[in-house]
Amino acid sequence: MNLHGSSIRTTLQLGIAILGITLSSISAQVGTDHRASAPSMNSSLPPDERAALVVKEMTLDEKISFLHGTGMVGLSPMSPLSVNSNGGAGYVPGIPRLRIPAIQISDAAYGVRQSGENGRYSTALPANVAGAASWDPEAAYEYGALIARELRAQGYNMSLGGGVNLTREPRNGRTFEYMGEDPILAGKMVGQVMRGEQAEHVIGDIKHYAMNDQESGRNAVNVNIDKRSMRESDLLAFEIGVRESNAGAVMCSYNRVNGDYACENKYLLTDVLKKEWNFKGFVVSDWQGTHSAAKASAAGLDHEEPGEIFYGEAMKKAVESGHVPMAELDDHVHRILRSMFASGVVDDPPEKSVVDVAGGFEIAQKIEEQSIVLLRNEHAQLPLNAAKVTSIAVIGAHSDVGMISGGGSAQVDPPGGNAIMPPGQGRTTWQAHIWFPTSPLKAIRGQAPHANVQYDPGTDPTTAAALARKADVAIVFAYQWESEGMDLDSLSLPEHQDDLIAKVAAANPHTVVVLETGSPVTMPWADQVSGILEAWYGGSRGAEAVARVLFGEVNPSAKLPNTFPKSEADLPHRSIVKPPRQSTTHGEPDEWKIIAAGLPPFQITYDEGLKVGYKWYDAEHKQVLFPFGYGLSYTTYNYSDLKVTTGKSVHVSFKVTNTGDRAGAEVAEVYAALPESAGEPPKRLVGWSKVKLNAGESKEVAIDVDPEYLSIFNVERDAWQLVPGSYVLMVGGSSQNLPLKESVTLK
Ligand code: BGC
Repeated sequence: MNLHGSSIRTTLQLGIAILGITLSSISAQVGTDHRASAPSMNSSLPPDERAALVVKEMTLDEKISFLHGTGMVGLSPMSPLSVNSNGGAGYVPGIPRLRIPAIQISDAAYGVRQSGENGRYSTALPANVAGAASWDPEAAYEYGALIARELRAQGYNMSLGGGVNLTREPRNGRTFEYMGEDPILAGKMVGQVMRGEQAEHVIGDIKHYAMNDQESGRNAVNVNIDKRSMRESDLLAFEIGVRESNAGAVMCSYNRVNGDYACENKYLLTDVLKKEWNFKGFVVSDWQGTHSAAKASAAGLDHEEPGEIFYGEAMKKAVESGHVPMAELDDHVHRILRSMFASGVVDDPPEKSVVDVAGGFEIAQKIEEQSIVLLRNEHAQLPLNAAKVTSIAVIGAHSDVGMISGGGSAQVDPPGGNAIMPPGQGRTTWQAHIWFPTSPLKAIRGQAPHANVQYDPGTDPTTAAALARKADVAIVFAYQWESEGMDLDSLSLPEHQDDLIAKVAAANPHTVVVLETGSPVTMPWADQVSGILEAWYGGSRGAEAVARVLFGEVNPSAKLPNTFPKSEADLPHRSIVKPPRQSTTHGEPDEWKIIAAGLPPFQITYDEGLKVGYKWYDAEHKQVLFPFGYGLSYTTYNYSDLKVTTGKSVHVSFKVTNTGDRAGAEVAEVYAALPESAGEPPKRLVGWSKVKLNAGESKEVAIDVDPEYLSIFNVERDAWQLVPGSYVLMVGGSSQNLPLKESVTLK
């Protein structure tokens, strides 16, 4: 397992300084440019032309220096140049004589990572899966733009976020970092995040390409999957993301796919990404994901991170001996430079500045309010009426002080440290459970100032139930922590929380459960409680957003981006395939050498193929707890007047009416069933629109369905194909509630 011991890195940088390589001696290299009028600096030229002009001027050593980072302790050898790193995951020194700035790279999945140890601040947005649950492309754009502003304020010009691995396996510990189980939803939403980032002049990166759908044994596993399934599901999410955003970078993943490491997989990197999708940016390896020079280079890997094992001296030798053609090397460098010009980081380099904390909080809260899914609301239990409720029991999950966040390289540091530790203590170390200081108890008290609001930690279900019994309403907060570098053993809530909820529900018929999870969880108590909210990992202002939903200041409008199964036995795979001992590392001193050389593979076969998420449950006729695309509101909606016309694309229009008495926003979803002969699962999402409606208001919704979304991938022809025949278009508020249907014949 590769860990990112960030404090180790700081120590190392100090060590380098002691060796006598001081910051100032290195910055001298970054001196004033004497060729201010270099033609490549003409910002009116297209990025490709500018990149070509720079490549022409570069020496072989300069080219090589652009192909790798400067190291990370424990993960690769360190270069003395790393002393000039901004403290992020990666650093590529600039080329001052050509006016090319350094690339300063930070992880930034739901906010900028490692700000704490650098004495900085960054906002934690709701987890990426929450962003997807908003089904709101504008919110996704804002999500990316906020991250990019905070990256720039901290001196970074490249982001590592954009996780879009499809949720084939919901026990994957990084499910919170991804955008759900549907390729069109995930692809569109990640595309918007990337657009938001790049509009603020940061190089965006989509990851982890591809099939890195579990963490266990990720450096060794070989994923077996047929091409059609891969193209129509997992890769389609990347395809849409890349197409919609022109992201500057794509990160190849650790695992092998059909025999070859993703980072030396010609089919993935060259045939599909670069040739077919016409991706113009560069491929960066995941941190320690490179395993060769010539093979990886020929396959299409452009840049090695974090250090130089293969893409430094070894690459230089390979070029000099003709094993790697100069044209291939130039293409790698060209792509990196092109992304720098295209994203604006050359013409508009970041300047360190004060992060807009208040502005960030506001955006984080607004996005969380759009992302909380109301799963159950018996007898209109919610919203709570602050004028009527006299007593509330708030129970469990440290809800007196904070809300949990997702861990690993996505981890954002909370201001003041971990909310469950004394102030200032509780550094964010790898895989610590980090609770953000956003207190549900305080936020609920703020909403109901006249009610008696009492807290019980929930550690003893009997005392918690006793408190609940005396209250008008019991609100139980429950959590499931997850992180990079681990998978969940099960989809059950940990730490006896199922028992706690059942006992509280037995004591109080007005029990509401607020879930803080990244993955779906099973809920044996679902029928016994009157309300359930899925709040995900709610970010810096999660508690305020939850309280506003509980008390009706916000009408919930989010929908599930992942199916919640009834039982784990219903998943395509009984359990996650764990690596054998020889396919993992065990804290050896030179672990990186073992990983670079390649751990013996073990196999996972995704034989459910096309049937990812809801497509699996549909095809297998398995009842679910809450379906994909599902979410309630405090108002109701009616669907009518479906019209489907065909021409260049399939045009779907229909009417949505808010039939209740409060304003809301409805995610109206369009699905298609393909002709029988296509051999597809029963239906797939092909479009949606989030429609804002006042009480009583109706709106006409029009959606043009991209023909590719109706197509299958024909492996023999190596192309998308629209199968002639009858298509059923279905419209409604969830994948299992589609009141409008119309058939059309496509030729
Ligand atoms: C993770 C990436 C991350 C990188 C840099 C890897 O272990 O898989 O998602 O961006 O490290 O921290």
